[in-house]
Amino acid sequence: MKRSKRRFFSFSPSPIFIVGCGKDGVVHAFSGSWLGQCSFKPPVVWIAVRNDSRPQSMLEVGGYFSVNVLRSDQEGIARAFFKTPEPKDGKFGSAAFHQTSHGMPVLEEASGWVECRITSLVTPGDHTIYFGEVVDCGISSDAAVLTTVSSGMKYSG
Ligand SMILES: Cc1cc2nc3c(=O)[nH]c(=O)nc-3n(C[C@H](O)[C@H](O)[C@H](O)COP(=O)(O)O)c2cc1C
Repeated sequence: MKRSKRRFFSFSPSPIFIVGCGKDGVVHAFSGSWLGQCSFKPPVVWIAVRNDSRPQSMLEVGGYFSVNVLRSDQEGIARAFFKTPEPKDGKFGSAAFHQTSHGMPVLEEASGWVECRITSLVTPGDHTIYFGEVVDCGISSDAAVLTTVSSGMKYSG
């Protein structure tokens, strides 16, 4: 039997979402695959964000983040948010967005989104996990979601 952590992690398919954040009137968003639901009551979502990254500087307990769902045919959007263009005139590059009541970016092309209020965090290693209680959401399509398996994109190892 081979001993390969990299192979082990590659067995676990994840959705690829666009995580939105913001602080002091500046918004940002990035493609993220380390996230999921971790409570029914209240509904809580966790996201893992690389330490010392731009998004991490915008996240804090009491603050907010959004999670935007992409369809499996929206791989191009995910790729655009690996190196996110500066927001200008309500767009990240060609991706138009609006802001929630708490200022979090929601992509017009997202098939669904949630907005979460950050209630706690933990830093187990080189990423910090933020737990956010869902405070608002919208769904416009039940289409299949973009995943690491459907796209071949990876963030594991
Ligand atoms: C498939 C995939 C999934 C990713 N998931 C995450 C994630 O869950 N958390 C994270 O912090 N970065 C993730 N990234 C990296 C970010 O999309 C992005 O590249 C990074 O935030 C850019 O940081 P910078 O603006 O500091 O260069 C992922 C990248 C890829 C290719």
